[in-house]
Parts: sequence; C-alpha cells; structure tokens
Amino acid sequence: MTPVRRWITLPTTRRCWRSPGLSGWSSRPTMCWPGWYDTRMRPAVQPGVPTLVGSRRVALTIRQTSISVLAAAASSGARVSVPGTRSAAWRRMPPRDEAGQEFAMSIAWDEFYSSRVRWLKDSVTMDLRRIMGDPNVISFFAGLPDPALYPVEDIRLALDHVMAEQGREVLQHAPPAGDGLLKSYLTEKLRRGNVPAQEENMLVLSGSIQGLDLVAEMLLDPGDAVIVEDPTFSGALEVFAKYGARFITVPVDDEGLQVESLAATLLQQRAKFLYTMPTCHNPTGVDLSLARRRRLLAIAREFGLPLVTDDPYGELRYRGTAPPELLALDGEANVIMIGSFSKILAPGLRLGWLLAPSPVVETLRLEKLSADRSTNHLVQRLAAEMARQGMLDRYRETMVTVYGEKLEAILAAMRLYFPPAVKWTTPCGGYFIWVTLPVGLDASLLLERALAQQVAFIPGASFFAAGGGENTLRLCFVNTPLAQIPEGIQRLGRLITELIDGCGDDSPA
Ligand SMILES: Cc1ncc(COP(=O)(O)O)c(C=O)c1O
Repeated sequence: MTPVRRWITLPTTRRCWRSPGLSGWSSRPTMCWPGWYDTRMRPAVQPGVPTLVGSRRVALTIRQTSISVLAAAASSGARVSVPGTRSAAWRRMPPRDEAGQEFAMSIAWDEFYSSRVRWLKDSVTMDLRRIMGDPNVISFFAGLPDPALYPVEDIRLALDHVMAEQGREVLQHAPPAGDGLLKSYLTEKLRRGNVPAQEENMLVLSGSIQGLDLVAEMLLDPGDAVIVEDPTFSGALEVFAKYGARFITVPVDDEGLQVESLAATLLQQRAKFLYTMPTCHNPTGVDLSLARRRRLLAIAREFGLPLVTDDPYGELRYRGTAPPELLALDGEANVIMIGSFSKILAPGLRLGWLLAPSPVVETLRLEKLSADRSTNHLVQRLAAEMARQGMLDRYRETMVTVYGEKLEAILAAMRLYFPPAVKWTTPCGGYFIWVTLPVGLDASLLLERALAQQVAFIPGASFFAAGGGENTLRLCFVNTPLAQIPEGIQRLGRLITELIDGCGDDSPA
C-alpha cells in the first residue's frame, strides 16, 4: 500500500509531514525542526530500551514527527516517558504483535482532548474488576441484580412475541422521546403512585445514567455548583464532573438528606440543582422521611432550587411501605425524576426514563436526539410487552422475596459477627447497607485484607464528593448467593476485629 501523505496543522502551529504506512506512522520529519530526528530522536529512542526523553518541547517534536520510532520502541516493549508533559496515554502506546494487528498511536491524543474528558475516571479498579467474575470470591461489591434470577425465559418469550407481531415496526427508529406503549405503561404506573405523570412529560432513556448526563448538559456550565448528598452515587459525581461541576455536599443520616443543613447551605451559596436519591439511597440504603420530603420541597420552592431525583431501587421494598415520591407531593413541578429498569429488569438492556415539565423534556429530547437519536426500540417494546403480560410484576415479586431474605440474612450475620464499635444502616429496600467503622480505621486497608480472604466490597471514600469517609464501606447484599452471606460477613467481622485490636497491623512491633 502506498502511504498517504498529507499536510496537517499541529496545535503548535508548526507543520510537518506524516504518512500512515502499513506498520503505523512512518514519516521522517520534513518541516519541523529537521535536525531533531537524527540528532535527538534516533539515539534517544531505541527499540527494547526503556527511554526517557527530555523536555516538553522535545516531547512534542518526537510525538508529532517520529512516531514510527516510538512505535518500534513500544512494540519491543520499551517504555518511553517524557517528564513535564501531561500526556499519559502516548507513553502507553499499545504493544503490537508481529502481524501489526494493533494500531500504534501516532498522535498524542490526550493533547487534543476537551477539558470534559480530562475528568473521566473509572471508579472500579482493575483489581476489583478481576474479582468480579471469580466464583471463589464472596462479593458484596457490585450493585448489580442477582443473575440467577434474571427472567431469561420470559424475556425470550416476550421478544418472540414482539418480533412476530411488531418486528417491522421495532426495527425502525423509535420516537426520540420514547415509544408510546412503554410511556403509556410507565405513566399509568406512576399515576397509581399519585405522581401526575403525562406522556408528554416523559423521556425514555438509554439507562438512567443518560438522564443524569442530559440534565447535566442542560444545566451546567463549567464551575457551576451542584448540591450532592454526602455520600452519594459515585457514577453521578463522574457525570457531573465531566461538565465541570463544583460540588457542595450536604450530609445524609438515617432519615436521608439533612434538609436543615441544606437550608443553611443555601443561605450562603447558590447551586444549579440538588441531586438526591430519596428512596433506597445509594450507597446508604436509607429513605428520606416523609417530614423531610415535605421540608425539602418547601426549601426548593423558597430558594428556587431545581431537584433532580434518581430512584432506580424504590420498587424493591422488603420492609414497611414506600414513602410517596417527591413528585407526588410537589404541586409545582420543581422536580426532574429519573427512573431505571436496570435494577428491576436487567442493566444490560440499558433502559431508563425521566419525568420533567414539558418544556424541559423538549430541551432534553433535543439533546438526546443529538446524543443517540432514540433508545433501542426493540428493548422498549420488550419491556412494554413484559409489563403487559405481567412478567415484570412477577419478576419484581421474586426479587422482593429473594432479596428480602438476603437482607435479613446479612443483617443477622452482621449482628452476630461485627464488633459492637461498627455501625450500619438498616435499609427497607434496595441493594445496599452502609457500614461505618470506628474512626481511624481505613476501609481500603480492610479491603486489601478482605480480598486476600476472598471477600470484596466497596470502600466508602469514593462516594464522598469532597473527600472523607475513609472509615466507611458499602455492602451490596442482593447479588451474593444467600448461602455465602454469613461466611462472607464472618470473615469481614474477623478482619475488622483484628484491625480494631491492632492484630492485623503489618508494621513491625
Ligand atoms: C443511584 C443510581 N442511579 C443510576 C444508576 C445507573 O443506572 P442505569 O443502569 O439505569 O444507567 C445506578 C446504578 O448503579 C444507581 O445506583
């Protein structure tokens, strides 16, 4: 193949030749700093030799003009690093196999990144990701449904039905705001809970996280403040951070968000919106009490504060009755309510929805149109069909029974095996229990030791927007096999006791 040669304009305003060849980028510099290649590059980067290259200026030249050398170095396993640059990605050029299957990076991509993506990070570390599928690990880690309960056969039957009856329709785009059948099911269900939902107030989403993303895109400019609960869902923090959010935190206790503290905060600072999980909060599992719900709505009205509620867990209630939705109490529609099928059907289907005043829905609909045009039509009809045939209700009843047993089992085990200095929440539903260790104990150290004993959980610090929470952790109880729960909690209890007693201290005496 003849290499294609073309001029490019670099951000440094210099121009140079580059030509993609079969084995990556193979140009020699022609315009920019002609002397560099021979005098600095060739001796500086040698295949197979870990190489440190000098200044940022040199680094730019190297990256933009002599990539073939870097590619050769990388393919031989060399580590090329440049002090004083913010580039991390280019130093990790992927190794290429003999056949040159993988693209070597010819551009320092991160030099071109927008400020938005610089905030992105994966809260799940590789170590934790590795244990997620390990059957030997007793995992209280991922906030995912129990896969043993997935209604696979029902889904197959409903899909067959949809394809047989509506196949030609569902293979077309869905309306950007969502499929009418699904919206009609959802709005009727919401109205039974006294939420004044109309189809024109609803937007169907590709997972509720998309709702958070669209709302953030709609409301946030870089530097804008968002009020979040402390602790809160770390996935939401990541979405808001992408839009340059500044976080103001308000604590959560056993009755949910401390609303008086919110009122005091609002006297001092303005924010674009409050993000809150009033029911079966992630990560604490608690519900916002009815009195606080009313007070929250009054505060929102008084300060003109938009509320964004996120409620993927509310339908999974094992004890008591669910408190009313904020929208069922709010006559003024200051609330954007976001819901999801991820916890009550399957996260892999990527299906969620939101409810908002219709002009807001229209703006969000336009954003969605430009993001992904519409949510998967087949999946929307699948959910509507499962609802029509009563499959969703049956599945929810099964989950409530099984997860409810798991909740009782884990609470009983914690009472039995956790030392008295440990405190935890007692949720009425959802997926999570929030554990507070004595101050000074570090949950990430506990995790390190727990992993060695084949037990996993999430240390709580990642749920705090402004730092802190090192002595907290989140346990997800729904996804662990019932029979493993007592053993897992016993191991954790033993490790916590060792940490409290100082027996687990690795440092020499
Ligand atoms: C509070 C909360 N909101 C949103 C999500 C994401 O849900 P979805 O899969 O619908 O995007 C999660 C998932 O863990 C969650 O816990």
